[in-house]
Amino acid sequence: MILPIYIYGHPVLRTENATVTPEYPGLQELITNMKETMYHTEGIGIAAPQVGVNARIVYIDVDVLAEDFPELKDCRMLLINPEITVDEDAPFITREEGCLSVPGIHENVQRQEKIHLHWQDENFEEHDMDIEGYLARVVQHECDHLDKKLFVDRISPIRKQLIRSKLNNMAKGNVSCKYRCKVAPHNRKK
Ligand code: NI
Repeated sequence: MILPIYIYGHPVLRTENATVTPEYPGLQELITNMKETMYHTEGIGIAAPQVGVNARIVYIDVDVLAEDFPELKDCRMLLINPEITVDEDAPFITREEGCLSVPGIHENVQRQEKIHLHWQDENFEEHDMDIEGYLARVVQHECDHLDKKLFVDRISPIRKQLIRSKLNNMAKGNVSCKYRCKVAPHNRKK
């Protein structure tokens, strides 16, 4: 089932996300719905809070970028309870990002170039991987959602100032996007 995407300003994006256990009710259905919703909205990553569920689940499929980044061919990841660690002296890299929950806005974001990722898959098997480049960026962006953070929280103060009114409008429910979305409840569109 395709679910609506929760938009900037909705409190669900700023709510604590719970650790997921094998007993989590409806886990398989939620994962299926997240995947369906992500493909429908043409995203490359989605986190559960973006479909209104405060649980530590992320799905990523960056295969569509394989033309520019050959290493991303067939790269799909379902991350449950992901944890990122970073070397203290690891380099940063800046690149443009967007987000299904912040439609129409693309801004440069500085991220770690290399990360170490620990996660569980849908069978709750543990995994560890060193990740770099574009995939490391996508993983950091999605894991930020699980920590109640959006990419616009990480842009320069000047850029933030420049998009302030767009963001305020979005939070008030004035948003146009191709997919079904949900704005903050007190500002619901008529
Ligand atoms: Ni996002």
